[in-house]
Amino acid sequence: MKDETAMPRKIIIDTDPGQDDALAILLALASPELQVLGIVAAAGNVPLALTGKNIRKVCELAGRPDIKVFAGCEGPMQGSLFTAEYVHGASGMDGADLPEPTMPIETKHGVDFIIETLMREEAGSVTICTLGPMTNLGTALQKAPEIASRISQVVLMGGGLFEGGNVTPAAEFNIFVDPMAAEIVFASGAPIVMMPLDVTHQVLTTKARVAAIKALATPVSEAVVGWLEFFERFDEAKYGTEGGPLHDPNVIAYLIRPELYSGRLCNVEIETQSALTKGMTVADWWGVTDRQKNATFMRDVDADGFYALLTERLARLQA
Ligand code: BDR
Ligand code: CA
Repeated sequence: MKDETAMPRKIIIDTDPGQDDALAILLALASPELQVLGIVAAAGNVPLALTGKNIRKVCELAGRPDIKVFAGCEGPMQGSLFTAEYVHGASGMDGADLPEPTMPIETKHGVDFIIETLMREEAGSVTICTLGPMTNLGTALQKAPEIASRISQVVLMGGGLFEGGNVTPAAEFNIFVDPMAAEIVFASGAPIVMMPLDVTHQVLTTKARVAAIKALATPVSEAVVGWLEFFERFDEAKYGTEGGPLHDPNVIAYLIRPELYSGRLCNVEIETQSALTKGMTVADWWGVTDRQKNATFMRDVDADGFYALLTERLARLQA
């Protein structure tokens, strides 16, 4: 058993809810191993105004209206925003009917919050969790490159190698939406842990796993099951699997139970130019180049262990 009373790890969550982002936020807020310093809204699955609202809905569902929520950038560093209502629904979190949030959104820009927090807290003590396009972190690194050496780790959901892409044959959504931001993050020198599609496609929302969450019979579990049942329909049809992949909560689960995951440190570069492969994470898994190893690329996960953790933590949210 882990000591849950040890000093919690300080994290900033940067996210574009998204049903799977919502589950990641709930998992973080239910976990005493983590201290959420703030949550920054990214533009991604749906536009920024909706993701900022969705984050606050999730915090209120978790009984945490005290969490500081910030709005980040409205679109990618270059080009226009590509969204995914075709997966997540018009609200970004279709499937559960939650009240309009009453907690405020902070007036400080999310990029400034990231920079100021990293400069204020002890160097190496803050982990950045990105669950959407990395526009806010990329912009922060461009504005204040000195933050890179102060980041404990960037743990991100994005990319794919053996599994290919989910928006194009080559690219995963979060990297595809803002490849320039991803390129800046991967070149920053900050320690990076990637949860690519190779991992998240193993974490399927099977009937038995969803039933275990439903059996919690709480307002939180009711919302979660509604989200999962809406969200999985798209990928079930696409991949022909029982249940759909659950992406973003892997970032948070890794921080709590790293032993659930395995991968290797390798070089990962981002394709930003090619019309055919824009947003591809070119991962040198086999070490065929001498390019610098800049990211731990996760490839396998104990999916049953993941769902046991998720279900146990959701049970703690009785709000
Ligand atoms: C990623 O894209 C979004 O649709 C999900 O929230 C996840 O972050 C998966 O490719
Ligand atoms: Ca997301």
